[in-house]
Amino acid sequence: MKKAYVHGYDPRENIRLQDQASTLVELLHSDTAYPPGSRVLEAGCGVGAQTIALAGNSPRALITSVDISPSSVAEAARTAAEAGLSNVHFQQADIFSLPFGPDSFDHIFVCFVLEHLPKPVEALLALKKVLRAGGTITVIEGDHGSAYFHPDSEAARRAIQCQVQLQRRAGGNANVGRELYPLLCEAGYGSVRVSPRMVYVDASKPGLVDGFIKKTFTAMIEGVRQSALEAGIAEEREFAEGIRDLYRTAEVDGVFCYTFFKAIGLKPAQ
Ligand SMILES: C[S@@+](CC[C@H](N)C(=O)[O-])C[C@H]1O[C@@H](n2cnc3c(N)ncnc32)[C@H](O)[C@@H]1O
Repeated sequence: MKKAYVHGYDPRENIRLQDQASTLVELLHSDTAYPPGSRVLEAGCGVGAQTIALAGNSPRALITSVDISPSSVAEAARTAAEAGLSNVHFQQADIFSLPFGPDSFDHIFVCFVLEHLPKPVEALLALKKVLRAGGTITVIEGDHGSAYFHPDSEAARRAIQCQVQLQRRAGGNANVGRELYPLLCEAGYGSVRVSPRMVYVDASKPGLVDGFIKKTFTAMIEGVRQSALEAGIAEEREFAEGIRDLYRTAEVDGVFCYTFFKAIGLKPAQ
């Protein structure tokens, strides 16, 4: 039986993550720049799709990027070397047993990771241990409940729900974006601020039509086809109709909206 769908472990999915990152760099990264010499932990770096923007915007910060998957870390290191980045150190590590002492970092950056974790608050607590008091955590997540489009389509909405259900069965939460404020508060971060970042796409933005509607969002939903059929939560013909209708929103009269959530919290002094 095919392994349950998890972002970032097959070549097609890796290409999708890279496409997603390059399409969303301005929207998600433009206000994140860390001071020279600051120690930054990127937790769950995957294949390095965000690392490029992160390190590029903070060229003199000292970035440590970790992921639980050794093959992803190796690929991230290759990508960073090809991009000529010299301020990132890559290391295999599990967020829940980080090989760093207390106060090892001034800032932490986490993107599209909590959505996969059954216990996101515990992950945020584990990260807080290695953050110094007064340091910041930045968390970015999507929320599939925020996807709406024209022409509307029941089949497309059902195809999206397949992804939501599969992620839930795997212990994750594809709608976690809306929960960032309560999650960070529960983990004991202070001064939490969340800013929604809407991607609005119509035909006047051909880069986003291709990069977001087609190569990011629809590619992701299309990627769960086999798992959804095997899990018996989709029927082949209807799923295909849903995917066709998602691509339909990329046509000249189509419109697509999706909201990411970016949260920043501070580790309070004890
Ligand atoms: C969807 S990918 C996101 C990767 C990257 N942040 C990005 O935005 O392209 C989620 C990543 O979280 C990693 N991950 C999941 N659980 C983890 C854990 N306990 N510790 C470290 N990394 C973890 C996965 O291996 C995967 O690479």
